[in-house]
Amino acid sequence: MLKDKNILLGVTGSISAYKIVNLASALVKLHANVDVILTKNGERFITPVTFETLTKNRCLTDTFDRGDVSEIKHIALAERADVILIAPASADIIGKMAHGIADDMLSTTVLAAGCPVLVAPAMNVNMFRHPAVQENLAVLEKRGITVIPPESGILACGAVGEGKLPSEQTLLDFILRETAHKKDLSGKKVLVTAGPTQESLDPVRFITNHSTGKMGYAVARQAMLRGAEVTLVSGPVNISPPPFVKVVQVKSAEDMFQAVSVCCEEQDYFVMAAAVADYTPAEIKSEKIKKSSDESDLSLQLKRTKDILKWLGEHKKDGQLICGFSMETENIMENSKAKLQKKNADMIAANSLREKGSGFDTETNHITLIKKDGVIDLPMLSKEEAADRLLDVLSEIK
Ligand code: CTP
Repeated sequence: MLKDKNILLGVTGSISAYKIVNLASALVKLHANVDVILTKNGERFITPVTFETLTKNRCLTDTFDRGDVSEIKHIALAERADVILIAPASADIIGKMAHGIADDMLSTTVLAAGCPVLVAPAMNVNMFRHPAVQENLAVLEKRGITVIPPESGILACGAVGEGKLPSEQTLLDFILRETAHKKDLSGKKVLVTAGPTQESLDPVRFITNHSTGKMGYAVARQAMLRGAEVTLVSGPVNISPPPFVKVVQVKSAEDMFQAVSVCCEEQDYFVMAAAVADYTPAEIKSEKIKKSSDESDLSLQLKRTKDILKWLGEHKKDGQLICGFSMETENIMENSKAKLQKKNADMIAANSLREKGSGFDTETNHITLIKKDGVIDLPMLSKEEAADRLLDVLSEIK
């Protein structure tokens, strides 16, 4: 995912420096080239050898290091970096950056860099809240530097409050958002529905289906990484939502319809990957079921839930593109082509529930993309790769 990307990590003096070891390792596993600059105070918490072992690159600590005379190290590092993350960022480095002070390897390198810079402050809560630090952070943000907010919790000093370095995963997500993909969807608004919906029979029981939400969540994540502004309308699932995505949690088809319809006008693309429960109890009968002890009353009267995709197709604005999903057990192509027409969609992503490795609760999917002017049969792919290919094809529809 990060092949050919150069990530520069700046590590300053804080106990949370240990988290950057895991982060460096995760970046290397994603095939990034990782350079680490450790400040003098950083070296008191962690050694350069730790980073060198993981990254296979020299960990730099000294501006006047005489190891390689063929290049001026801080300039070379600054020029080749695709992104710089300073984490943990002490009050000291934040102050230096805000005031253009360049008196060690990290501060000189950052000053010479033209790439995006991310800063993750980590310190005692009173230090973090001090006007000097807050004003310095505001200066950095004004210059286009991204400040990753610290988390709240018990700090190493025993105090409780904000100042904790966010998890390795959060830091990684910020780096991925910056570097992982071409930003070909930036400026686009994408609405994704995902997961199952639940139709209550009574306060205890409900009708639902086996959807895990993985496919829709993968679409939302890939669209976000490609620069889109993503709204994810999700039924109840057990997976964590992707970062930097607006998540609207819903239960029933009616909730999902409300959440979609309220923001549909401003969207560019719709990817309706939710497995919406097709039926909901008809009102009068469900009341009867709740109250009755007579088994003959338990024959459920059902009515269709609102068809969100169809409604969107009927209210489509110029320039909007709609992709529906189709989960079929038989006659996939015929049924999916009929759905494309019936719902006035621009594309149907068809997958078979009978094929191994495809459908609900798998990590992979075999999708066939059906458009008005042709069919693209994708190979069996991870749900992330399938989501990317789906977005490629959808965004190319004229
Ligand atoms: N869908 C929807 N609202 C519904 C039912 C389905 O928005 N009430 C969307 C799904 O998210 C999917 C597409 O419609 O993108 C197709 O869903 P599917 O369940 O395969 O088909 P149905 O429209 O329900 O048609 P049928 O059950 O008759 O095949």
